[in-house]
Amino acid sequence: MNIGIIGCGIIGSRMGQGWQKAGHRVVGWNRTVSRAKDAGFPLVDSPAAVAAESEVIMVVVADPPALISVTEGPEGLARVSLKGKVIMNASTVGPADNQRAARQIQGAGGEFLEVPFTGSKGGAEAGKLVFYVGGDKDLVARMQPLLLQIGQKCFHFGAVGTAADAKLIMNMMLANLMEAMTEGLVFAGKAGLDMATFIEAYKMNAGYSVLADMKLEKMLVGDYSTHFSLKHMDKDVRLALERAAALKTACPLTERLKEIFSEAMKTGWGEEDFSVLYRMISKQSM
Ligand SMILES: NC(=O)c1ccc[n+]([C@@H]2O[C@H](COP(=O)([O-])OP(=O)(O)OC[C@H]3O[C@@H](n4cnc5c(N)ncnc54)[C@H](OP(=O)(O)O)[C@@H]3O)[C@@H](O)[C@H]2O)c1
Repeated sequence: MNIGIIGCGIIGSRMGQGWQKAGHRVVGWNRTVSRAKDAGFPLVDSPAAVAAESEVIMVVVADPPALISVTEGPEGLARVSLKGKVIMNASTVGPADNQRAARQIQGAGGEFLEVPFTGSKGGAEAGKLVFYVGGDKDLVARMQPLLLQIGQKCFHFGAVGTAADAKLIMNMMLANLMEAMTEGLVFAGKAGLDMATFIEAYKMNAGYSVLADMKLEKMLVGDYSTHFSLKHMDKDVRLALERAAALKTACPLTERLKEIFSEAMKTGWGEEDFSVLYRMISKQSM
């Protein structure tokens, strides 16, 4: 199959490589060509050019404005006929953003699925992503085998918008968990606890998580190489709070977390992994 990737960043490039390994022909487009030079598959000039060469197109861009740009911009996907093509959006955006993209794509004759995911850089490299899927049931059934070539599981939540909600809620919980773990680790250090013993005991505590497995050891040695950037988690916390407000849902802890993320963004660490919160709380505790 001919597959196109729009947005060849940390995840998009690895999704493309995964599909290449599975035997597909992959082309991509990236706004900044130089950043995608190691994508491992050929790049074309525009999202519309990706559409011309592909039957299935995966969009993996930063945020809602980026999604609008690649769908509705002058050389966006919806500017050309998308008849017979399936467009999937894996970018983390709000439900209304995906519903808007769906209208644009369908207006140009294409089919649309939202497929936000979890699993980060390591999951994308290992083909172990977990997809949250929103859209037509029959289209989900047709696309699932392809998604499972780069992922381990698909959860179909319902119509377009439902998977975006699920993703925002999951990331809101994850962001809070990171802050809680960060504060606890800094606190344990300040209390003079033996960290090796503390971590061994933490692993047997109900509060231990997969997140700790992924991040903890690296945080303690100051390795914030980016798997999931602070700037994207900052965006996700904001999107989650906007959606929560629209649904009149109280999220007092996350409201405070938004301020903490804003402080962290002001340090200029937005491109680093979101576990860089540990460096900020450590500095504030000196
Ligand atoms: N990394 C993870 O662990 C992870 C996990 C779950 C979900 N996500 C979500 O997946 C998406 C991509 O994440 P990532 O980690 O791959 O991010 P990334 O490495 O920062 O890549 C972002 C991509 O979006 C493009 N982009 C940004 N603004 C754009 C615009 N206005 N128009 C067109 N393209 C634009 C970037 O192009 P340039 O190179 O030109 O900047 C780049 O290709 C985000 O929505 C993120 O929240 C990521």
